[in-house]
Amino acid sequence: MKSIAIIYGSSTENTKRAAEKIAEKMADYTPTLVDIYDGDEQPFLAHDVLIMGVSTWGVQDLQDDWNDFYPKLEKLDLTGKTVAIFGMGDASIYPSSFVDAIGILYEIVKERGAMVVGQVSPEGYDFEYSRALVDDLFVGLPLDDDSEPELTDERIAAWVEQLKPYLQ
Ligand SMILES: Cc1cc2nc3c(=O)[nH]c(=O)nc-3n(C[C@H](O)[C@H](O)[C@H](O)COP(=O)(O)O)c2cc1C
Repeated sequence: MKSIAIIYGSSTENTKRAAEKIAEKMADYTPTLVDIYDGDEQPFLAHDVLIMGVSTWGVQDLQDDWNDFYPKLEKLDLTGKTVAIFGMGDASIYPSSFVDAIGILYEIVKERGAMVVGQVSPEGYDFEYSRALVDDLFVGLPLDDDSEPELTDERIAAWVEQLKPYLQ
């Protein structure tokens, strides 16, 4: 069985809450929950599957703790790692930069050699532009606890099912 880390950064605990829900859904795979606030590179090296959670704070802006960690991320060798990304945003107030941070993490982890899984159809999301949209798919799971919190649990459940083949 693969070793899994769920690594999140969260300013007002929305992404943290989602990370905990994802951990619960993956309980059989005993994932390790990591707050990127600690600035520790070790989990990136120690685990096979990295599930990264990030919120977007402004156009093309990573959540603060991910922003602080970014220079370290730029130097990590992620060859052989499987990465899946989820991200909190708000499509009704920020429709032109919806979950941009998912796209930013996607670009850097790909550049560092990771295989990214967990793409999601934009169907059912109401937004104008997102850096996370690549070839007509979101490169991770967008969540929106500000505008449509009632959809979060089912979105997480479907995404975790989608990821299961990569977890064993
Ligand atoms: C000042 C500010 C700027 C934001 N900018 C964006 C944005 O550009 N795109 C987006 O999708 N969400 C944006 N959001 C919404 C947050 O990403 C959302 O509230 C998220 O749930 C916060 O997650 P966290 O508590 O884990 O940090 C913004 C929120 C605030 C308060």
